[in-house]
Amino acid sequence: MSQVIGAAVSRKDGWAKVMGAATYAAEHQLPELIHGYLVTSAIANGRIKAIDTREAEKSPGVLAVFTHKNAPKIFQPANNFVNSRIYEARLPLADDRIHYGGQIVGLVVADTFERAREAADLVKVDYEVQPPIVDGEKAIYKEAPPWFGESMTFEKSSTSAGDVDAALSNAATKVEATYTTSMELHAPMEPHGIIAHWSTADSVTIYEPSQWVSGSQRTYAELLGLPSERVRIVTPYIGGAFGCKVFPWPHAILCAAAAKEVRRPLKVVVSRKQMTANTGHRSPTEQVIRLGASADGKLTAIAHEVKSATSPVDIFVEPCTSVTPVMYAAPNLRLKQDLAVMNVGTPTFMRAPGENPGMWALESAMDELAWALPLDPVELRLRNETREHQRQGLPFSTKHFADCLKVGAEQFGWQQRPSQPRSLTRDGLLVGWGMAAATFPGLRGKASVKVRLLPDGTAHVLSAGNDMGTGAYTVVAATAAEALGLPVEQIQVEMGDSRLPDGGLAGGSQMTATLTPAVMAACQEVLKIARVSTAQQAFESLRRSGRAAFEATASAAPGQEGKKFAFQSWGAPFCDVTVDEEIGRLRVTRWVSVMDVGQVLNAKTAASQVRGGAIMGIGQALMEEAHLDPNQGYPVVYDLATYHVAAHADIPRIDVTFVGEPDLNFNPMGARGLGEIGITGVAAAIANALYHATGKRLRELPITPDKLIV
Ligand code: MOS
Repeated sequence: MSQVIGAAVSRKDGWAKVMGAATYAAEHQLPELIHGYLVTSAIANGRIKAIDTREAEKSPGVLAVFTHKNAPKIFQPANNFVNSRIYEARLPLADDRIHYGGQIVGLVVADTFERAREAADLVKVDYEVQPPIVDGEKAIYKEAPPWFGESMTFEKSSTSAGDVDAALSNAATKVEATYTTSMELHAPMEPHGIIAHWSTADSVTIYEPSQWVSGSQRTYAELLGLPSERVRIVTPYIGGAFGCKVFPWPHAILCAAAAKEVRRPLKVVVSRKQMTANTGHRSPTEQVIRLGASADGKLTAIAHEVKSATSPVDIFVEPCTSVTPVMYAAPNLRLKQDLAVMNVGTPTFMRAPGENPGMWALESAMDELAWALPLDPVELRLRNETREHQRQGLPFSTKHFADCLKVGAEQFGWQQRPSQPRSLTRDGLLVGWGMAAATFPGLRGKASVKVRLLPDGTAHVLSAGNDMGTGAYTVVAATAAEALGLPVEQIQVEMGDSRLPDGGLAGGSQMTATLTPAVMAACQEVLKIARVSTAQQAFESLRRSGRAAFEATASAAPGQEGKKFAFQSWGAPFCDVTVDEEIGRLRVTRWVSVMDVGQVLNAKTAASQVRGGAIMGIGQALMEEAHLDPNQGYPVVYDLATYHVAAHADIPRIDVTFVGEPDLNFNPMGARGLGEIGITGVAAAIANALYHATGKRLRELPITPDKLIV
């Protein structure tokens, strides 16, 4: 396409981040700032009989104590995901009911953080306790309601086609197995935090990490009973979000409403322990997969039955069956998704919600089928590829899944793989090679962008859409550089402020696909206004005429293309693992990921996203699991010391390669998103490699040492 697009461009925000100059929400310095500390429930089910705040109120520096008895005024928002959305439908401090351990029951406000925390400890709560349901085996499951599926439309999670049972009983080869995943905690580097500053009684500025800046503005406006233009959201940098910073959580709603009553800028930071209950997690899942295949390895039936859990105060379905009709062609298909209400905090999106645990189960089962047939697992996937989305009945726009498999196999050296478990060793350790498929839908929303050319030779690109650390500043700059014919260094990007044009949602891996077409359109528009073909000519014209600037705003949005095509990204991770059976240690020693995501806009940050996905997936595969006390329902794993994520020493070299072609049916940039696809298939590739190394099939994540010792 060009000079800049697709090249390796270093992060625009890299310097600020490395030098500590990037200001995160809770770091904003405001005069008169005061601090709130959350009081949280010690029980998981029941009711508050009495709450005594007298001692807390007398504690030094305390300015206010809020409980359900004097909750600040909060209005019920529409909560329809069009205008507004909150993570938990129940408003904070709504009543005396306790639905989960760690639920917010109060907020203590004081002049310093330490004094607020000290006084929070002095609030005495008398509970009426009921036994909580925190064990998935004791929960009652019902059919899940529709979820926000592909294209963010409501999609039914259970469906069936053909006669799965008949096809399974006639199949030459069958696999039937149950796969589980653990409750996983979001562990972003930046914990949740908010500062709410009411400059007048009807005007508030909110500093908060938000993946949906303009949506958050509308949501707070509804919650606080204000017109949207009276709410400003400021979120220039986010220290990791992965789905847990899309909508306001209860702590933030409470802070914004309480700040109005205390008439001072108020900051609430959620501790790592409080984040366990109050800012989302990935639900545990239990998935039964049944595959039937003919002797030549063609799938005849797929059944995928899923259980996940939600909280008593909202419905969140972990939509694991979304990937099943996308991956492989099978004439008989049954998808079932059940949901249980448990006394846990509300689960939420976590990097590839549904796709990630769904692919863990499906891609483990495909590996089991490959061994049962027997057939090489790469070949099995090639034989069952589908050109069509099995549920939407639409052809995939561009699809290079087969290239991902072939290029990955070639790069990895897959042809050398012995087809017997326990046949490779290195340095006295067993060695295994595994692979899986990766996939994620191509999503795109609407965005607006403003471009301004100044006589000093700089071009400014402005949008409320934000960069949660994925590289949006950089692809926006690269796109503008391309369109304006300027070096990237001359582009200045301002993002993450609701005063700027609505840039859409940074979630569902859609920010790049949403925002860059609008950047392109606004750049073309500004050149048109200046009656020139490059920005250099516009700068000359500005200097000659003494005019202050050329400026244009443009929008871009999907059209009717979704009626003709299904948009999906594809990939294949391959890995090498070593296993020491005596001490139960599995190490991932080599990684190759090959991806088809359409046009890559920035080779450097794109590869980083896929690497980040692999790293997060290695954590999920080998260590991440949260536990709740079965009696109290309270999290017993709650910070970065007790909840383990992958660290540098756990991670091998990760080679990332992109294949495919620009998906110009999807958007003018030809780019599908890639924030989430990198984690899909990762855990399955590792479990599949483990089987090759040891002959042992593990179906429960995470694969911790206790499960490996022989
Ligand atoms: Mo992502 S889980 O949609 O931020």
